[in-house]
Amino acid sequence: MLNREKSQPIFDRALKVLVNGVSSNFRYLGEKETPVIVRGEGARIWDADGNEFIDYRLGWGPIIIGHADHRVNHAVIKHLENGTTFAATTELEVIVAEKLVKIVPGMEKLRFTNTGTEATMHALRTARGYTNKEKFIKFEGQYHGAHDYVLFSTASSPISAMGARTSPIPVQVGSGIPHKIRDYVYCLPFNDFEAIEKCVKDHHGEVAAMLVEPCLGNIAGIEPKSGYLSHLRSLCNEYNIVLIFDEVKTGFRLANGGAREAYGVIPDISTYAKSLGNGLPVAAFGGKTKVMDVIGGGSVTHAGTFGANGVSMAAANAVLDILSDSPVLKDLAERGKRLKTGLDNVLTDAGIPHQMCGHPNIQGFLITDKPVKEVRDLVYSNDVLYETIMQNMYNRGIWAESDPREPWFLCAAHTDEIIDDTLNKFQESVKTALQ
Ligand SMILES: Cc1ncc(COP(=O)(O)O)c(C=O)c1O
Repeated sequence: MLNREKSQPIFDRALKVLVNGVSSNFRYLGEKETPVIVRGEGARIWDADGNEFIDYRLGWGPIIIGHADHRVNHAVIKHLENGTTFAATTELEVIVAEKLVKIVPGMEKLRFTNTGTEATMHALRTARGYTNKEKFIKFEGQYHGAHDYVLFSTASSPISAMGARTSPIPVQVGSGIPHKIRDYVYCLPFNDFEAIEKCVKDHHGEVAAMLVEPCLGNIAGIEPKSGYLSHLRSLCNEYNIVLIFDEVKTGFRLANGGAREAYGVIPDISTYAKSLGNGLPVAAFGGKTKVMDVIGGGSVTHAGTFGANGVSMAAANAVLDILSDSPVLKDLAERGKRLKTGLDNVLTDAGIPHQMCGHPNIQGFLITDKPVKEVRDLVYSNDVLYETIMQNMYNRGIWAESDPREPWFLCAAHTDEIIDDTLNKFQESVKTALQ
């Protein structure tokens, strides 16, 4: 157990004033276990007791350059002097939008928001407004934020409640969501060519959108089968359905142009957040002009007091420059491969059956001998052993999520030395877990 002499009294205070002591359900790890972080720099973070961790959670993805990157910080601090929010267009907002249109393949027009949740909510509304249809398709195990329409069959839903593959049941995530909203969603297994084709053929007259994480950013980074995303693209073309890529985790992480570039498929709309601000709250949704132009006063509503505020725009502007000026994400992928190969070797040497998943920049592994292509395959995963290994890692100062569904994120500050250190500790942690 790590020292919690200073962290625990702070968390005890947190429990009195914040529900469960946290500002997001997923951050709560227990009354005596939830960490209290005071600082981050590069690929490392420190808790209130001075315990140091190499960070593979990276705030669940936003940190792409590194914690407290001085270039991003400097840009934000400098811009603060100009003020932040004017309820009006700013030149900086135009500059950032121009950069996005240049960097993201097929991006024509966009709008800024502050969170991924807002981005997917508005993207869905835009698709409904464009097609004049109301239902949408999402995929089991995918998470698209905390608004009601998308809180069905996410990564945290019990697989046992999802029904048969041929007749999947949308599983509502928690209380507080009106039952009738379930009527607006079809939840399907990912990577299943026939299931999606059947659903579209049966229901296309009512389906406005297909909302998809191009790779499973909330299920160990599982990638699409070859041809799967183009299959979705052609079904959407044929049946007048808006294809929405939720790139909140993949955008500015897989490649500068996100999953569109990495997998070579252009959706009608994409949503972005996380890496776009390297930890500052900024998000966007955008795509084809003909679809996006349905937004406007009296037609489709998109609004937000803080959209494109100066802090977000200064951060995004700096991040886009850093990503464009040198091959940050390509270099990152090389180190991601080093990590992936190393983890794979340790598990193989230890005789642990496993499946390596994901793109090097957002990767994971599952402890199972069965191939994994979608969330239902996780029923075979040995989550207890995974969690034990990750707890051993945490005690040795390496923090990756203890839940195998959440991928390992890398940032530009994860050097070869940091990765080698991680692999040494991983080897020890696996050995200890098997004793
Ligand atoms: C793929 C995806 N979409 C949307 C969201 C929601 O983003 P936010 O937490 O910024 O609202 C998340 C959050 O993790 C996500 O992983």
